[in-house]
Amino acid sequence: TMHNSPNTTWEDTSITREFRAGQKGQKPVTLWFTGLSGSGKSTLASEIEARLFHEGYHTMLLDGDNVRHGLNGDLGFNAEDRFENIRRIAEVSRLMNDAGLITLTSFISPYQTDREKAKRIIGEGFIEIFVNTPLEVCEERDVKGLYKKARKGKISGFTGVSAPYEAPGDPDIQVDTTDLTIEEATDYVLKKIKNYLVQP
Ligand code: PPS
Repeated sequence: TMHNSPNTTWEDTSITREFRAGQKGQKPVTLWFTGLSGSGKSTLASEIEARLFHEGYHTMLLDGDNVRHGLNGDLGFNAEDRFENIRRIAEVSRLMNDAGLITLTSFISPYQTDREKAKRIIGEGFIEIFVNTPLEVCEERDVKGLYKKARKGKISGFTGVSAPYEAPGDPDIQVDTTDLTIEEATDYVLKKIKNYLVQP
């Protein structure tokens, strides 16, 4: 015990992320979804989270609803603010991973260097999922009417229209949702993700 062993210190009792993840140990990775507005990344991330959760994994979803309206409510959409957005999300993801959670993030994250930064922050648990739905399809869907506004010049620096989207060169997983139902896309990505996870 602690009293009898001179080499055992209080620090040795610190709880690691593996312990927090549970006795059997799920692997606390960050599933980093990237893609254009309207590509389907948020729908996919939330469907996949629900499926993982129901299989017994401990998960956390970070998206615009709980990040851009909260923690990052002070940030806009110029390149500098997007960088800071992504940096903070990566730091939070890392903390969530330290808490033992499988984290899913759904942000456009349009710049290669910003995603590389996120990968450096998060470490080997960073899994890049490129939702590779073409601009034409995203714009045709225009779920929020933002492309229309952007084309009219009512939104400046809109990704894909008047601001760049730098596609990942070598994503871990990629999916084009053009001809897939939500269920088909979810099944496809989930199957690929399983290679990176340990059963809970
Ligand atoms: S980023 O680039 O990762 O910092 O962007 P993100 O935090 O994912 O926010 C994207 C959502 O914000 C809305 N929005 C814009 N998107 C792109 N460009 C501009 N200028 C912009 N202004 C507002 C838009 O609804 C995005 O939502 P999603 O879910 O991607 O459709």
